[in-house]
Amino acid sequence: MKMKLVPALGLELSAVGFGCWAAGGSIVWNGADDAMTIRTIQRGMDLGINFFDVAPVYGFGHAEITLGRALGNRRSQVIIGSKCGLRWDDAHTIVNNLRPESIRQEIDESLRRLQTDYIDIYQMHWPDPATPIGESMGALRELQAAGKIRHIGVSNFSRELADEARGYGAIVSHQGLYNLLEHNPTHYHNIPLTYRTKDEILPHCQELGLAFFPYSPLFQGLLTEQFKATNQFDSQDVRSANPKLNGALFQVYYAIRAELLAFAQRIGKTLAQVAINWLIDQPAVTSVICGAQTLAQVEENAASASWSFTSEMRAELEQILQAHADVVNS
Ligand SMILES: NC(=O)c1ccc[n+]([C@@H]2O[C@H](COP(=O)([O-])OP(=O)(O)OC[C@H]3O[C@@H](n4cnc5c(N)ncnc54)[C@H](OP(=O)(O)O)[C@@H]3O)[C@@H](O)[C@H]2O)c1
Repeated sequence: MKMKLVPALGLELSAVGFGCWAAGGSIVWNGADDAMTIRTIQRGMDLGINFFDVAPVYGFGHAEITLGRALGNRRSQVIIGSKCGLRWDDAHTIVNNLRPESIRQEIDESLRRLQTDYIDIYQMHWPDPATPIGESMGALRELQAAGKIRHIGVSNFSRELADEARGYGAIVSHQGLYNLLEHNPTHYHNIPLTYRTKDEILPHCQELGLAFFPYSPLFQGLLTEQFKATNQFDSQDVRSANPKLNGALFQVYYAIRAELLAFAQRIGKTLAQVAINWLIDQPAVTSVICGAQTLAQVEENAASASWSFTSEMRAELEQILQAHADVVNS
């Protein structure tokens, strides 16, 4: 497995990581099966994946439980990135909450579900405009002092908000939406994004030696061979809320995908590996947190790190993306 050193962490993370949203189970992701997810996570570890991204809200606690069960006594061999700041009620209505008392409650629940006594990178999942960032950072610094978390990271934060947070304590990582077809996205599932990934966040991470974790690296399955134009997500699958995977907009992305698929076939690789390698190729990108639900998927994803683009391949791929610059930059 190719490794990427993060100066701010002093740690090497696997170029291919593992995203655990679908580990939240069938209530959030079509077809998710706990026993298979556990085997898939374990296979990922065998293949050298050492970074696992999760959050309490994925499956309303379920993904952390599943990850904890899969890691078992190998927990110390991996780096866990979990999150705080999205709470839910009995009806599963989600609210942003980075108040100190909420963070103190969330960490203990996460540690219990993950069956661990520390989280390596604890990320604020989304900004909470109702709470001054200094108050949230104060609570996170307390957790650090208590040994419950090792490092603080941010997700979906603008550069300005991250800079403000940094005034209260070290931030080691950013997480944001970034893939072959979404370079500077303005929205995620209809939620406006206050940052532009490629133009603002990547240079910022590189300048400061921070980790950057690109989320939805496979466009939630679109950038893989298996995705069908007829794909239907039932209302429980979180992908039913992605306007780029449904309706008229989907056709725009699906047409570009056809060109990328043809490119992948020309170079004798799979579309998923092209999408993952395009990310690995970028020095600012740390661990590509691909979701995976089967052994075949995690094996294909991990194997992306075993080859690299030639300069000719890279130029041809950039040419395809350039031809659709208006789409990939929105
Ligand atoms: N911070 C945030 O706000 C945020 C937001 C979104 C995601 N994330 C993180 O990013 C991670 C990844 O993003 P994501 O889950 O949105 O989507 P993703 O990684 O882009 O796509 C994952 C899906 O792609 C399909 N897939 C994966 N490998 C495949 C392969 N080799 N061949 C065929 N299909 C394959 C599977 O779909 P099927 O299940 O249909 O087979 C899988 O569930 C999440 O798990 C989470 O940790 C963070």
